[in-house]
Amino acid sequence: MHITIFGTGYVGLVTGACLAQSGNHVVCVDIDEDKIARLTRGEIPIYEPGLEQIVHDNVRSGRLRFTTDAAEAVAHGTLQFIAVGTPPDEDGSADLQYVLKVASTIGAHMDDYRLVITKSTVPVGTADKVREALGQAVRERGVDIEFDVASNPEFLKEGAAVEDFMKPDRVVVGVDSDRAAEHLRALYAPFNRQHDRTIIMDIRSAELTKYAANIVLATKISLMNELSQVADRVDADIEQVRKAIGADHRIGYHFIYPGCGFGGSCFPKDVRALAQTAGKLGYDTEIINAVERVNDRQKQVLFEKLAAHFGDLSGKTIALWGLAFKPNTDDMREAPSCTLMQALWEAGARVRAYDPEAMKETRRIYGERDDLLLCETAEQAVEDADALVLVTEWHIFRTPDFADIARRMRQPVLVDGRNIYKPSYVAQAGFTYYGIGRSAASGATRHVV
Ligand code: UDX
Repeated sequence: MHITIFGTGYVGLVTGACLAQSGNHVVCVDIDEDKIARLTRGEIPIYEPGLEQIVHDNVRSGRLRFTTDAAEAVAHGTLQFIAVGTPPDEDGSADLQYVLKVASTIGAHMDDYRLVITKSTVPVGTADKVREALGQAVRERGVDIEFDVASNPEFLKEGAAVEDFMKPDRVVVGVDSDRAAEHLRALYAPFNRQHDRTIIMDIRSAELTKYAANIVLATKISLMNELSQVADRVDADIEQVRKAIGADHRIGYHFIYPGCGFGGSCFPKDVRALAQTAGKLGYDTEIINAVERVNDRQKQVLFEKLAAHFGDLSGKTIALWGLAFKPNTDDMREAPSCTLMQALWEAGARVRAYDPEAMKETRRIYGERDDLLLCETAEQAVEDADALVLVTEWHIFRTPDFADIARRMRQPVLVDGRNIYKPSYVAQAGFTYYGIGRSAASGATRHVV
């Protein structure tokens, strides 16, 4: 099939590359000339495992092209995906101007039938607006050309996006015509393993499905984070609680890891956006608002543990392991590390940090500052530090030589923001250990009421 993708951001690029990989002829279009030039040279602007290889392979085979020419892009694909950004407005609602601009562009250039599919995460009802903008652009030309609109939300995890696209749990397709359904069924047929993964539904339900999935997942995390706060206060170990509740199939082991708050480009934004959508329609969401509040609070937990240990943090040096919002990405959007660094700087502390992929991004965001030293290795980061905080659970941080780390530090204090270490093992190396909701495991002796 001939496919056009508007937007070469994270979602657009992964979608374009993976659809080319399954045999389609794909054109990716973006208004950013520099980005298109770099992509054409084979430079991938984001770090995503496996992506570079499939972009290279498919560019070489001629199935994947990049352009800034919208007219050429509209002429190419029968299926036109909109995967441009929907940045949050001041009130947290998604800003649709870029999505609707693309719809008008398609309407201004198309010469025969087009199926226009929103891939970006957009509020419920956006497909209707896309239809309107497109229809208006077509009518303004005094022509009458048929088109369909559809919603096909993505469920890609950063760091595993290629894998998620190639082996989806499900493909959600929202349509209002058989013609659109058949096009999308055919497009995704190569990704069905053993059984049909495509779930066809009406457009608004598909739009809501994306938010619903992310909010259920975000809720699981905030609920566990809240339970971890309780565990700390009653001297229980949330990790033992987690293993025991996960054994109940109705709860399950996935996404019940307590930590230092969820970040990234999806969960925080989607939680806010759905609350906004409901609010505008006169429904005040309660659980969804609480998910956000609990998460904001949880992002303070690392600083609170340091402050509780040291009292005054001014003049202290704190080592951070991990800056990206999660492993296998260089994405720093809404990362707990940012909240921690800001709080430390406000308290007069200095930060030494190391992340396997996000150093460049951290430098871009914070620039040169006296109270931030970006280190070349994990070992360098702990040199003369008063405490070490594990913020992102990258694989390389999992089994450090704790005795060596302790020798390098001024004081062996460890705050484990992801509960990846065994408290008794770390304690053997001389560390004072603080986990998330693990006061019992750390041997705390607080009085229980
Ligand atoms: C998420 C969804 O998983 C994906 O389906 C959607 O399309 C986009 O949003 P992503 O943001 O890449 O993907 O990250 P994900 O792996 O889901 O993690 C989100 C955040 O939750 C991270 O900050 C992670 O550290 C945190 N998390 C996850 C926890 O704190 N505990 C958990 O048990 C799981």
